[in-house]
Amino acid sequence: MKAKTFYIETFGCQMNELDSEKAAGLLHARGLCKVASPAEADLVLINTCSVREKAESKVYTRLGELKRLKKERGLLVGVLGCVAQQMGEEMLERSSVADLVVGTHRLHQLPDLVQQVEEEGGRLAQTFFDDAPAPMEIEHVLRESRVRAYVTIMEGCDKSCTFCIVPFTRGRERNRPSDRILDEVHRLADEGYCEILLLGQNVNSYADPSPCGWKFPRLLQAVAQVPGIRRVRFTSPHPIDLSFELIDVINDTPTVCDQVHLPVQSGSDRVLRRMKRLYNRQFYLERVRALKRSPRNIALSTDIIVGFPGETRQDFRDTLSLMDELGYDFVFSFKYSARPRTPALKLKDGVPEEEKAARLLELQEKQKQIQLLLNQRYLGQTVEVLVEGEAKTRWRWSGRTSKNKIVNFDGPGGLMGRFAWVRIEGFGPNSLHGMGVSEPIEIKELVTTERSAPRSDWLQIRR
Ligand code: 5AD
Ligand code: SF4
Repeated sequence: MKAKTFYIETFGCQMNELDSEKAAGLLHARGLCKVASPAEADLVLINTCSVREKAESKVYTRLGELKRLKKERGLLVGVLGCVAQQMGEEMLERSSVADLVVGTHRLHQLPDLVQQVEEEGGRLAQTFFDDAPAPMEIEHVLRESRVRAYVTIMEGCDKSCTFCIVPFTRGRERNRPSDRILDEVHRLADEGYCEILLLGQNVNSYADPSPCGWKFPRLLQAVAQVPGIRRVRFTSPHPIDLSFELIDVINDTPTVCDQVHLPVQSGSDRVLRRMKRLYNRQFYLERVRALKRSPRNIALSTDIIVGFPGETRQDFRDTLSLMDELGYDFVFSFKYSARPRTPALKLKDGVPEEEKAARLLELQEKQKQIQLLLNQRYLGQTVEVLVEGEAKTRWRWSGRTSKNKIVNFDGPGGLMGRFAWVRIEGFGPNSLHGMGVSEPIEIKELVTTERSAPRSDWLQIRR
């Protein structure tokens, strides 16, 4: 290939981050070197997200910004990911900057497609979508982290939530055989990774295509038992597939982290029905209560959409009351964004933009207060942190607890990739900070203190 260097920029979810690492691995295997800025690159790739309109429009802004550089340096520009899949050829018409558009099912062909454009000139869109039985296996993944590795177990989604574009951009569910997944995890453990994040658009609907025929709980258990692996997380599960068997595995397997991300989207049964989420508030609450019954005190995070068509003030209040009831450790919250091809496009009673914005603000303010209360309880506690890197703040190190709390702290050198004990001395809504200690002074289960107790149900659930 003519290109010697590449730069890759990623928008969107962890699945996209892993796809970028796979793209980087594929190019690296063909002798290209990854660089840190577009100005040094012969090939610039943008890995895109189309889950909301705002993310999608960023792609065109970014392409526009690359125009001058492309003219000066004659670099090649490629677009990957969900917007590439969704737009195909149209992307080449809409932007003169993109030379190559590679759909989500064509990622493994990236180096060949780059070479084709280099050799033949012109521009190319390759978004052919086949529902092949297995997601592609990519040998070389050029990973960003030396600590936590992402591992695909399935791709695509067979659900049809009415707001979601993913079934169109990622296709139907394709599962990876459990032996391949375990081989990869063993290899990662040998390379020194101690945390694994299992990924899939609908991770807990995993259905092993190998003769083992495992379901997700069994796979999770097997991954958690690989020697050297100290922490396992997974994302994103669908509440309807959160079986009691899975809850038991989470509770009984120490290497599975004390954290579950469980997207609820809304606290109103009426909205959940219109979203076709397949569960109601009661069902969701029962599963969460089962999760929280464990003495492990599992931390819970979620995704919430506000302003879905037809969402009344009362529906929104139902979402707020669910937040009070559960006391989420973290909430990813979004204004509803109409997406091409999705069934919700046909729904009447759209919520005005200002009302959506006001609801989002109200929800985020409430969540901030909940997080402050939860984080306050860590003061004086000693927590175990897996150190992921140097802190971007005034503290020296940054890492996460098993509950996925970000902890910034001061400590000796050489802690990268190691477990450290940190005494918590301060907190904000999104992180804790403190001082590394040579050994845990006191490791208490986080129990509610009278002082920080607001009056709501979730304290009872948390015990
Ligand atoms: N509008 C707003 N948010 C959306 N999400 C998915 N589709 C939309 C949309 N059309 C959110 C959901 C999902 C998360 C990944 O993105 O909350 O769980
Ligand atoms: Fe989208 Fe629903 Fe599938 Fe999640 S489960 S990817 S929200 S369609």
